Amino acid sequence: MAWGTLPVYDSSGRPTSGLPGEAIWKGVCVPLLFIAGESDQVTKATEVSKLLEYFGVPSSFYKPEIGGEGDMPSRRSPLLKGPADGIPGSSILASSYIPAVSHREPYSKEKANVKAFIFPSPASHALPYDRATYRALSGLIQDFLCNYTDSRLSIGWQLKHLTTSGKWDVKNLAKWKAVAPVSNPVGNTFFALKTLRELDEEHSPLPFVQKWKSRIFAIIDISHESPIYNPTQLDQGGIQYHKLPTVSKIPPTIDEVRDFVALVDRLEGEISARIRDEGINGRPRPLIGVHCHYGFNRTGFFLTSYLIERKGFTIEEALEEFKRCRPPGIRHPHFIDTLFVRYCAGLRGDLGL
Ligand SMILES: *[C@@H]1O[C@H](CO)[C@@H](O)[C@H](O)[C@H]1NC(C)=O
Ligand SMILES: *[C@@H]1O[C@H](CO)[C@@H](O)[C@H](O)[C@H]1NC(C)=O
Repeated sequence: MAWGTLPVYDSSGRPTSGLPGEAIWKGVCVPLLFIAGESDQVTKATEVSKLLEYFGVPSSFYKPEIGGEGDMPSRRSPLLKGPADGIPGSSILASSYIPAVSHREPYSKEKANVKAFIFPSPASHALPYDRATYRALSGLIQDFLCNYTDSRLSIGWQLKHLTTSGKWDVKNLAKWKAVAPVSNPVGNTFFALKTLRELDEEHSPLPFVQKWKSRIFAIIDISHESPIYNPTQLDQGGIQYHKLPTVSKIPPTIDEVRDFVALVDRLEGEISARIRDEGINGRPRPLIGVHCHYGFNRTGFFLTSYLIERKGFTIEEALEEFKRCRPPGIRHPHFIDTLFVRYCAGLRGDLGL
């Protein structure tokens, strides 16, 4: 390996092999993603700056903390902001975990799209398999592939377009029937549900209202289509119905999560007001029901986001809580990765989302 990194010089004294240098990097015209860990002593984060300089990015892109790289782990956040505006041939952004979305441009052949992320200390050479970083890393790579090479590389796209079965064909009806209608209370705030169906004997609006009126204050329907049941029957029966459409198989966007959190905050306020007015009479506090189709992946994403943003859960705790109450929990791995990109440690408490 060591031998291979050394150049061989041609007759005019130019290096022709060994580690790729400026000339070779400059010739790359496919999108590039650089990721480094601040405490990596093997391939140091400063190497990323060096590479970026080849693409015209000033070396101020990354400066190790005073006292030198790889000192004691620090808790700085958010780490670095890329300069990089207006640099021809590259679109750069650097932040610790949140892939800001502003400078993204479509990939074109003539252009190298270059992105760089530095994970803050204590991220090290082990970051591809360190439990603290591998999910966020995976999320960054998925975003990058999808945004800079081909959107068909996104898992969401593939699940959506490469599936062969219709939503309510016999197989999915059987799947729906096999799923528990209502979860245990999640974080003392939510019930995760599967969608109601107008024609079902048990899980349709009228029997549902009978059974759940005192325990469920409102239902938030996050499925994309019109509901396959009549929601006015819920409203008339005393359970508010709210629609917040989101696309299945794709992680809910930051805006959608913000709307969801705002809606839940409002409903929580109404629940508290009702308890103040009517008293609780020994009954448990009514909670909020949330459903997509089956109440696992998308519903789990929103519920865990809320628990993290509002109830002081860490990502791991929120995922665990949802899994405990709605086994087997969120199963789309790309949803979990996205949660880790959004809420990774170090940015907690300063979500800025
Ligand atoms: C791709 O980039 C857009 C912004 O241009 C962003 O909204 C979106 O979340 C990104 N998606 C993925 C999968 O990276
Ligand atoms: C949730 O995600 C898993 C894994 O991608 C997928 O197999 C499943 O069909 C999704 N939906 C439900 C209801 O589990």
